[in-house]
Amino acid sequence: MIEAVRFAPSGPLRGSVVPPADKSISHRAAILGAMSGGPTEIINYLVSDDTEATLVAMEALGAGVERAGDGSGRLVVSGVGPTGPTTGVRVDVANSGTLLRLLPGWLAGWQGGRWEVDGDDSIRRRPVDRIASPLGEMGARIEATDDRFPPLVVEGSELAGIEYTLPVASAQVKSCLLLAGLRAGGPTTIHEPLPTRDHTERMLGLAGVRLDREGSSITVWPTETFELDSVEVPGDFSSAAFPLVAALLVPESEIRLEGVGTNPTRTGLLSILSRMGADIEIEQGDPSGEEPVGSLVVRHSELTGTEVGGAEIPLAIDELPLVALAAGFADGETVIRDAAELRAKESDRIETVSRALQGLGIAAEPTPDGLVVRGGNRPVGGAVDAEGDHRIAMLGAVAGLASRDGVEVTGFDAASVSYPGFERDLAGLTGA
Ligand code: S3P
Repeated sequence: MIEAVRFAPSGPLRGSVVPPADKSISHRAAILGAMSGGPTEIINYLVSDDTEATLVAMEALGAGVERAGDGSGRLVVSGVGPTGPTTGVRVDVANSGTLLRLLPGWLAGWQGGRWEVDGDDSIRRRPVDRIASPLGEMGARIEATDDRFPPLVVEGSELAGIEYTLPVASAQVKSCLLLAGLRAGGPTTIHEPLPTRDHTERMLGLAGVRLDREGSSITVWPTETFELDSVEVPGDFSSAAFPLVAALLVPESEIRLEGVGTNPTRTGLLSILSRMGADIEIEQGDPSGEEPVGSLVVRHSELTGTEVGGAEIPLAIDELPLVALAAGFADGETVIRDAAELRAKESDRIETVSRALQGLGIAAEPTPDGLVVRGGNRPVGGAVDAEGDHRIAMLGAVAGLASRDGVEVTGFDAASVSYPGFERDLAGLTGA
């Protein structure tokens, strides 16, 4: 049954929230843990639909996964190391684009192995030629539907190191090639057109893998095996972004977000919002391993429109729907450009965000590579269909709190893909 949840206009948001663990880092910890030659203790693994799919996949591929069983996100993943992944497995990635793109990087180099990788309806619309093509250059054998979409079949083969310039700025593609490079015959060098999230590089560094970073290039050296030992996952900046924007939009709000990952390849939203006039203070705390962590204090602010594009896009890629929502409350026009990648996410986010905002009374127009939003008046509210996309579901909820009449979100349960306790956390801040 598709669930509809109503989010009523709210009084000021107050108090503090620790957002759930980082989804990108959780996926990487589980995958690298499963690839490694020993046990990895993961502290604060994200408990969500997406990251559960990764654990189930890692178990199917031969890794041991011991859960603390108390919902704390403490895990031990015992890697398969030089034995390699169990062959003949059909992996269901569910809704996870990260698992879809990273996993073939592990599997491609194991000769004699054969795997099928598939997922839900939305996954079957996510392009995989972006990984199949460079993996093919390395010598991998990958077959995709129409050469482009899942399900895909990976047959393990001998890989060569390559030098590759990413045609799109994608951390998932970069990470896939870094994983494949671990079993290549020589070094693999990746050139990035623009910086993207670097969690894989940091975690491989933690595992002692030889990795050189020079300007926009990363070179990884093959290794027989590696050990990760322990990873502590910080809070997810992308999840924190929802209560953050809610506090900016609802008058008289002041909230604190604690234990948030502040890796600069993830926090582009902060520079965009501060340009729009947002009052956000960052207090840096102790890092979690290789990842910086901090607290954010956010106060309601009057916002003005801005232009967003270029290098800012990959640094805020998952937060662009929220930039568009904030723009609907801001004075003047906001233009988001160079963001055609939004069309290849859990939904075509140029279309789903435009539709969601229009449904709330906001003047939003899709363009081929972004959106134009005209703000000014407090949006009336109305109805938002999540269209199976967790971030659209949560965007609808935030809009509801700040709107005049509230918002009914159809398919709100999609939020559990990344933020299962979202409704509870919002209620804690609004006192609802
Ligand atoms: C992710 C990278 C981004 C992001 C996605 C998670 C990752 O995708 O949108 O939600 O964990 O590497 P792309 O790398 O395809 O831009």
